[in-house]
Amino acid sequence: MRTKIVPPGVKHLEYEIRQIVEDAHRIAAAGASIIWENIGDPIEMGEPVTPWIREIVQELVTEDKSWGYCPSRGVNQTREFLAEQVNMRGGAQINRDGILFVNGIADAVDKVYDLVQKDARIIMPSPSYPTHSSNEAKRGEYNNLTFPLDPEQNWKPDLDDLRNKVKYNPQIVAIAFVHPDNPTGTVYSEEDMRAIVEIARQYNLFLICDEIYAHICYNGAKTLHLSSVIEDVPALSLRGISKEYPWPGARCGWFEILNQGKDEDFDEYIRALVNAKMMEVCSTTLPQMSIPRVFSDPRYPQHLKDRAAVYETRACEAYDTFKDVEGTMVTLTQGAFYFPVVFRKGVLNDKQTLPIENPNVRTLVEGMVKGVSPDKRLVYYLMGHCGICVTPLSGFHCDLLGFRMTLLQHNDARRRQTLSTLRGAIQAYIAS
Ligand SMILES: Cc1ncc(COP(=O)(O)O)c(C=O)c1O
Repeated sequence: MRTKIVPPGVKHLEYEIRQIVEDAHRIAAAGASIIWENIGDPIEMGEPVTPWIREIVQELVTEDKSWGYCPSRGVNQTREFLAEQVNMRGGAQINRDGILFVNGIADAVDKVYDLVQKDARIIMPSPSYPTHSSNEAKRGEYNNLTFPLDPEQNWKPDLDDLRNKVKYNPQIVAIAFVHPDNPTGTVYSEEDMRAIVEIARQYNLFLICDEIYAHICYNGAKTLHLSSVIEDVPALSLRGISKEYPWPGARCGWFEILNQGKDEDFDEYIRALVNAKMMEVCSTTLPQMSIPRVFSDPRYPQHLKDRAAVYETRACEAYDTFKDVEGTMVTLTQGAFYFPVVFRKGVLNDKQTLPIENPNVRTLVEGMVKGVSPDKRLVYYLMGHCGICVTPLSGFHCDLLGFRMTLLQHNDARRRQTLSTLRGAIQAYIAS
């Protein structure tokens, strides 16, 4: 080309959760059969669609309106319904213009970071979900600006570190976090949430809270929406139905825009967000139309409770599997449906291996592990040895080494088999 096409920041567009899949397919083509433990899709992992939710969607297919475009901001009746739900929490109050629909949170995240000027920065926790961290970093040649979540303290956020970084980096315009969190499964305490809000207020920042897992809390944790604690600080909460109907293929999510009209810069940013949405005509209509019907159905609260109870059981099961594996650190997760296993410093190195029977697979894996981080090396060996595909923790923009698996396998026997195979393989790898 006459001129270089891409900006330098595109090298930050990394999404390990999917990239590892490509490598897994190569390993599968060489003869291994793969157990997918990397993607957060409950349907793919065998959870049946809830019959009454399916019926609501089936009824909507018969309505011609569900086949058309809807207003760019989203279906008016649904936006009114969702605004009312926010107001009923008793915190920040909004009207329907405080709800903006998008084609899934991943789509929202893209816009959120793209519309922030190049040298302004958004700080987020480490580990962080790569859709957020990569999109933030791709805007320039940046390293991510992060504050740590501490695996030794149930992944509690280091608020002193956050406060200091905000204080000494005037280019920071916002704090972003995922709540409940992916990959750590942590649910922030109300005290920590309020402390984050306070830092934002003190330094005139806005907040971004990805609440895709808001209604998947267990092991003593309860849903706490940002809108309940935000008071007068401008913020964006990101919500969706991918994980809670669950219907990830609907590509349906929305912003709760909190405290518009309190800061001119924030309002200008929101106008840009809405205008960017207008360019796309609209987001998926039918899933939006389903929301008031599903959310207000008397069966929905029980549906959420039942699913949270399932993940509680599975989180305990995973915790019990790994808690006494020497060299690892695990906590009992309280939200979302992932389980991270962290290795203590010095436990992983670039010499460890696992036996791989199939010579084609072995040769491929031995080629793949050259020059990669020690946890990615483990992940490749796991795929070659026992076919289990997990995501290396270093793919979540952090210094910790480990891996993240899901709690999604619906078949109990298969899930337990995967857990015990993983446990044995890790012990053998560490000892090798
Ligand atoms: C934290 C987080 N946000 C957003 C998404 C994607 O949500 P959506 O399907 O609405 O794009 C995921 C998917 O795994 C996620 O883990």
